[in-house]
Amino acid sequence: METTDLLRKYNIAAPRYTSYPTVPYWDNQNFEEAQWKSRLLTAYEEYKEEGISLYIHLPFCESLCTYCGCNTRITKNHGVELPYIDALLKEWEMYVSLLGERPKIKEIHLGGGTPTFFSATNLQQLLENIAGAKQFDTTAACSFEGHPDNTTPEHLQTLYNLGFKRLSLGIQDFDPKVQFMINRYQTPAQVQNITELARNMGYQSINYDLIYGLPGQNMQGLTQTISEVISLKPDRIAFYSYAHVPWIKAGQRHFTEADIPQGDEKFALYQKGRAMLIAAGYEEIGMDHFALTTDNLYIAYKQNKLHRNFMGYTDQHTQILLGLGVSSISDCGTAFAQNAKTVEEYKQHINEGFLAVQKGHLLDAEDLSIRRHILNLMCQNSTCFDTAVPAEVMQRLQPMIEDRLVAIRNREVKILPLGRSFLRNTCMALDDRLWQKQPQTQLFSAAI
Ligand SMILES: C[S@@+](CC[C@H](N)C(=O)[O-])C[C@H]1O[C@@H](n2cnc3c(N)ncnc32)[C@H](O)[C@@H]1O
Repeated sequence: METTDLLRKYNIAAPRYTSYPTVPYWDNQNFEEAQWKSRLLTAYEEYKEEGISLYIHLPFCESLCTYCGCNTRITKNHGVELPYIDALLKEWEMYVSLLGERPKIKEIHLGGGTPTFFSATNLQQLLENIAGAKQFDTTAACSFEGHPDNTTPEHLQTLYNLGFKRLSLGIQDFDPKVQFMINRYQTPAQVQNITELARNMGYQSINYDLIYGLPGQNMQGLTQTISEVISLKPDRIAFYSYAHVPWIKAGQRHFTEADIPQGDEKFALYQKGRAMLIAAGYEEIGMDHFALTTDNLYIAYKQNKLHRNFMGYTDQHTQILLGLGVSSISDCGTAFAQNAKTVEEYKQHINEGFLAVQKGHLLDAEDLSIRRHILNLMCQNSTCFDTAVPAEVMQRLQPMIEDRLVAIRNREVKILPLGRSFLRNTCMALDDRLWQKQPQTQLFSAAI
């Protein structure tokens, strides 16, 4: 089948599967904070030795990037930093007292928003208080997201001294026309400067975030962006498909659908970018990700140790992920919990002495099994059932088998090379909760 026909058939609304069940399918009715705490404690008793992953959401940005799908708060008032840090530390101490000790931290990621909105001094205060007297383990994977426009040498040095060895820079596109459309500006020279500074300090892995399908993007501009990126040789690249969800993110209504490359045009941008990255020595990993063969993400992929969580792909895997801050999601393996989504609600709960958990899901045995298979597909491009592939899954996969996107060998479902671009569709075939209750309104962005 021609690519155009495949796109017509499979470019439907599809989850990104950073969790199973996906957030819109959580059974919030049957979830209570007390159950979250109890499941977390049970998991902690079993897994405390391996340590936990910690995600800290720092939502503030000085200006609105109109494409952005993340939970953000736009302000130029830096007076918000300390009260927010105070709430984060109170939340952390609530978890410490629940667990009865300061857990060992195996992975920590500062995400946003724009973590580099915060001054280096304030970030240092936050992190030193999180680590307590223990300091961060030297083997912990510590990373942060920085905006090239406001990441300073002080940020880099302060975080490096605290154990941070990985940096992720949000670039999205270097084309000035696209940058104007998305209201986000940074030059290749700025990015080169930060990259070189970080490398000279000793940062071991530098990631760039890029997006294809942005408003105003075209083949010429994207080719130029990817050439510039390749010349700077980041260790990892996330090359995301633009998720257009204007019914959720009002910022995306700053441009119209006519401005966005879609269907064949969008897919051609992806294929061009992918081909250039592969020709430059990058390996494609899971969905949307590329890495040099020297990078830990690639090594984890080759060793079948790649993991995917709410932050995306990671080379670390802990049973427990605690998310601190507004809208953060925590996961203890058998339950998910998400914090309140506005800064005001979040701070109010915390300052009243409660966790800010607002919704969640308790996974049953069926969920756990499907979750494992979807993770396998997302991370290893195949999964093997204990007995036969369930009949309903076979039936849902049939069109993809006929179109040579997927193959079934005995108990194994395997993604074929052509199917790698349609990974989300294959996962959907296993997503029982989605099939049981088809959405009445559009919940997810398009698969491509
Ligand atoms: C919260 S942003 C971090 C940005 C970083 N803190 C900065 O300011 O440079 C995380 C990443 O998610 C991706 N992202 C955000 N909105 C997106 C959308 N609508 N579609 C696809 N990817 C998106 C972007 O690549 C972005 O760099």
